Order: sequence, then C-alpha cells, then structure tokens
Amino acid sequence: MKSIFQILLFVVLSANTFAQTIEGNTENFANSESLANTEIAIIPEPVTLIKQTGHFVLPSNIIIQSSKSAELTQTVAFLKERFSTPTGHFVSVIHTSSPMATFKLILNDKEDATIGAEGYQLSVNTKQVVITANKPAGLFYGVQTLLQLLPAAIESKEEVKQVKWTIPCVEIIDYPRLSWRGLMFDVARHFFTKQEVKQYIDAMVRYKYNILHLHLTDDEGWRIEIKGLPKLTEVGAWNVKRVGTFGDFIPPTAEEPRNYGGFYTQEDIKELVAYAKERFVNILPEIDVPGHSLAAIASYPELSCTPEAINYKVRSGEKIMDWSRGAPPIAMVDNTLCPANEKVYVFLDTVITQIAQLFPFEYIHLGGDEAPHNYWEKNLQIKDLMKRENLKTIPEVQGYFERRLEKIVQAKGKKFMAWDEVLEGGVSPSAAVMSWRSMKYGTEAAKANHEVVMSPTQYAYLDYMQADAITEPKVYASLRLSKVYEFDPVPADVNPIYIKGGQANLWTEQVYNIRQAEYMTWPRGFAIAESVWSPKDKKNWPNFFARTEQHFKRLDIAETKYAPSVYDPIFSVKRTADRQLSISLSTEVDGLDMYYSFDNSFPDRFYPKYTSPLAPPIDAKVLKVITYRGKNPVGRMMNMPIEELEKRAGKR
Ligand code: ACM
Repeated sequence: MKSIFQILLFVVLSANTFAQTIEGNTENFANSESLANTEIAIIPEPVTLIKQTGHFVLPSNIIIQSSKSAELTQTVAFLKERFSTPTGHFVSVIHTSSPMATFKLILNDKEDATIGAEGYQLSVNTKQVVITANKPAGLFYGVQTLLQLLPAAIESKEEVKQVKWTIPCVEIIDYPRLSWRGLMFDVARHFFTKQEVKQYIDAMVRYKYNILHLHLTDDEGWRIEIKGLPKLTEVGAWNVKRVGTFGDFIPPTAEEPRNYGGFYTQEDIKELVAYAKERFVNILPEIDVPGHSLAAIASYPELSCTPEAINYKVRSGEKIMDWSRGAPPIAMVDNTLCPANEKVYVFLDTVITQIAQLFPFEYIHLGGDEAPHNYWEKNLQIKDLMKRENLKTIPEVQGYFERRLEKIVQAKGKKFMAWDEVLEGGVSPSAAVMSWRSMKYGTEAAKANHEVVMSPTQYAYLDYMQADAITEPKVYASLRLSKVYEFDPVPADVNPIYIKGGQANLWTEQVYNIRQAEYMTWPRGFAIAESVWSPKDKKNWPNFFARTEQHFKRLDIAETKYAPSVYDPIFSVKRTADRQLSISLSTEVDGLDMYYSFDNSFPDRFYPKYTSPLAPPIDAKVLKVITYRGKNPVGRMMNMPIEELEKRAGKR
C-alpha cells in the first residue's frame, strides 16, 4: 500500500509536470485559445520554469529586503512603487536580513556560473519570494518577471480594488541568449522629447531590452547640442511641419515657419543616459554620416562638396532621392558630407569627442547607410582624392571616409559601429557592423571576424506596416508579427561569438508621436525580445501568441499603446479562368472567425461567415470584414474597396 507521503509526492510531481507542459513549448496545443487562460505568461519566455502548487498572497504590510548596492536603488524603488500604487498596501525596504521580509532581492556571494551577468533565479513559495543574481542587472530582470507573475492590474497607475494579489509558486532560472538586445528609436525624423524617450525606455525594459540605439541625426533634424557648433541646433533641429505621406510632401516655401523639431541639450543627454543606466540600458548614439546629413549641411554648408548646398534647408519629407533604380539612390540634393574636405574631419572630430564624453557606452554608431554616389561621381575634389589615395570606385571613397572616422572614434577610446554598407568600401576588421539590408551582410561580416548586430528589414523593421495597407499608416513594406517571431539573429553557419545580438529598428518618417511609436513597437517588440533573450528551442508561435494576448491586457492597464493588427484578416486575390475576382481571407492566428458584407453595412457575427473564396456581386463597391473569437469581435472593421482588389489581382 502506498504511504500518504508517496501519494502526496505523486500529486506534487504530477502538478509540476503539467505546469511544465503548459509553460514549455509543447506541440500538443492545437490553437492559442487553449493556452490563452494560462495564469503564467512571461515575455520573454524564461529558460526554465517549474510551477509548484499554491500561491503567495501579497500581505498588507510588504517588507522588501534588498542587498545594499547603489545600482539597485532604482530597481527597489520601482518594485516598491509597483507594490504600493495599485494594491494600496504598505511597503517598506530594509537592507538587513529579517525573517519578516517577504520579498528578498539578493546578490550572490558566490558567482552562479549558469546565470551570468544578467541572469537570475526567482523562487516563489507560499511564504516568501526570493530573487538571487550575480549582478544588479539580474535582480532588475528578476523583478520584471516577478511583476509579470502578478495579476495584470499590477500595471495600474492608481489603486485597484477587489483584486486577489497573488503570485503562483514557481521556480525560475533565467538568463539571456544574447548580450545585445536592442531597440533603435529614430528621434531625427520626428523629435521625441526627453520625457517621451524615458517613456519608451520604461516600456522596453519590461521585456529585458538592454540597448537603446538613438538615431540622433538625419536629413530632417540634428537632435543633440554640440558645443562650438551652435548652428547644428539653431538651424539643423528645425523644419517645416508637414503631415501626410512622408516622401511626397510639397516642398516648403521660404515663408513657412521653421519651428517644428527640437533637440536634446547636453544636460538632457546626461539625464537620459543616467535614466537608462538605472534601468540597465546602454544608449548607443548614432551620428549618421556621410549620407543622411542634410540637417548638418543646412547648418554648415561648407561641409558639402556641392556649392548649391548654401541654399539647402532641413528636410520636412519632400522628395530628395530617386529610388526607382534601387540602391544607391539617385540624390536630387546632395545630402552627403564631403569626404574630400578636411573641414569635415575637423567637424566630425569635434562631434565625436563630445559624443564620446556624453555617452559611456563603448560603441559609437556612425551610420554609413544609403550614401548616394551621383554627386561624388561628378565632383572634382572627389576625383582628386581618388587619384591621390588610389581609390578606384565610389564605395572605396566611402571606405576611405569610414577608415578615417574609425581612427577618430578609436582615438576617443571607443569602438566604431556602422550600417552594413560600409563593408563595400573595405572597412577595417575592427569595425562592428549592424546588418540591416538582410542577414546576408551580417553573415559575411561575421565570417570576416567583424562583430555583428543583426537587425534585418525582413524581421526587425518596426516602421513597416503590421498588416494590410488599407488599415495601417502607409509605408514601403509590411512585416507581420508572425514573421518577426521567426527572427533568429544567429545564422547557423557562422561562429556565434561574432554575433553580439539582435535589434529592432523604429524609423519614424511616418511616426508623428509617441503613441504611434508605441503602436509600431508592440507587440512586435515582444517577438524580438523573445528572439534575443529566450532559448531558440523554446520558439512556438501559438504559445507565444497566447502570452502576447495576456500582455495586451497588461499594456491596456499600463496605458501603453500596441497594434491589434494581428487580428486583422489577410486578403489575397486572384483571377479565375473567366477573369473574375476570387478573394481569399485568412488570419494570422488560429481560432478566429471572419464575417463579411458586400452591401456597405457593418458585418457582425450574424452576417455570413467566411468559409471559402468569395466572388464580389456585380456593382459591389466594398468588402467589409471583421474577425471574432466566439461571440466577441477581436479585429478591426476592414473596409476593402473592390477597386483595390481589382488592382491587386492585375489585368482583367
Ligand atoms: C537603414 O535602414 N537605412 C539603415
């Protein structure tokens, strides 16, 4: 006969196995709905999680015991604030060991080799919650995970009544796959205030990102004060405000006020760097040269090889490049710094000296992307330079420029990083490469022993539309959440030591405000976070999407915007043998129904349900579609003009 102890042991072990099955990425779940009610939904998915039976109940008097470390001040203050604001409970912090403490944040005396510098162990039982880590960063990430184990209301900015503040008992061991987990925020195309950048940092650290790449300069604005170069911010930070479709704006007249924009003073930058550091984020500054430099040239025209630069103005978004023949573009104005002009290197030395002092991060990004060739090809100064330096091609001219820049960067004690185009001109092996045009360039760079950060357009461009262009703000291309989730920054055929990590890039040509910046970042930022933090073998789309839906609720309460585009129906269209339209609808996630109308009225679940390809009735003008899960609408009303479908299907 089994003893009571054996029976109890069996019950506990079975519960563990079941919990692990839910949290692990088993293939058993046919659709995300079966996972959607899981109490535990952590993003990025931890390395190991074992669920135990029972819950820890938040006491009304919460005592946090924390190791003493100045680096932990913000982490503890953040936890204290989260525990007190939504719950209304009393929270105190102590730095000595006490049996009364129910939350313990402890730095290991002895290094735990498994978890490294950013990992942590989180143990929740019915009596206490303990997070241990080798370094403060690990405790910070443990706190992020802990908050995700609490009810979504923990994200509230005010007290929430009638919530059962409990934490499921778990044992978690977690550490990142990659050390570079970046988001790029383009504050040049549109200026975002210091407060908005802090808001962006607050959101990214919940998902364990540790690099904020600030794209500080471009044709549309120079966003950082440089002492001794006042025009960069007096002139270069301001343009004429336009809205609509960037790239096609009507060129501003001389009379229109140039009062749209802004910049960060050096004091602002110091504040942002400190804010980021307290949250274990390094800020990577980017000064984008030699292309994308119209704001600098409008400020100091002598930096250009082109005499007409004297009339150039900071761009609003009017057409300045012709991309019809692909890359490099044909420039209609010369937005490049002149590599044959010594003044340019003096200018860049001044800029890089101050950037190096302001940003403690070891890398400085110097752009290098999309520099047009057509002005340089015709320029006499460039021709002389080519003769003098024995440069055979225009990419070699850029290579010469980049090598000189790298020397300046190194002289300031920093490492040089640039976009992958710089590989074309023969950059030095010590240059770090950010691969954006595809994984291919990063792969080649890693094979040539360059350090590489992968941020390919195919998976990691957050400026791309998240669904159909009829609902999303129009940009060049689309990139759906499920595709982003396929991102694997480490190619199979390279030595992984050269792949520092991965990054998603939010370019802001079409992003006019911080709410839209958030909309473009989430939920795709969840997918990238998981690609750079979680073990590769844990990838499982239904499981990820179920957790994503739980995080939608969290972001709702945190009042962080996100895109619901993943629920939108996908339209595909072809012509039948008799040249009629045949419209197919599908969804990115399983378990949704689509209801439609052709009669201009708004479909709901009492309308026809989509089951097979549709032929529009004669004279129909619009196909309206909405997605439901069971009785609840989840998608947005899609209004697809039949004329648009005719266009997509091609010639009749
Ligand atoms: C880039 O997207 N031009 C780096």
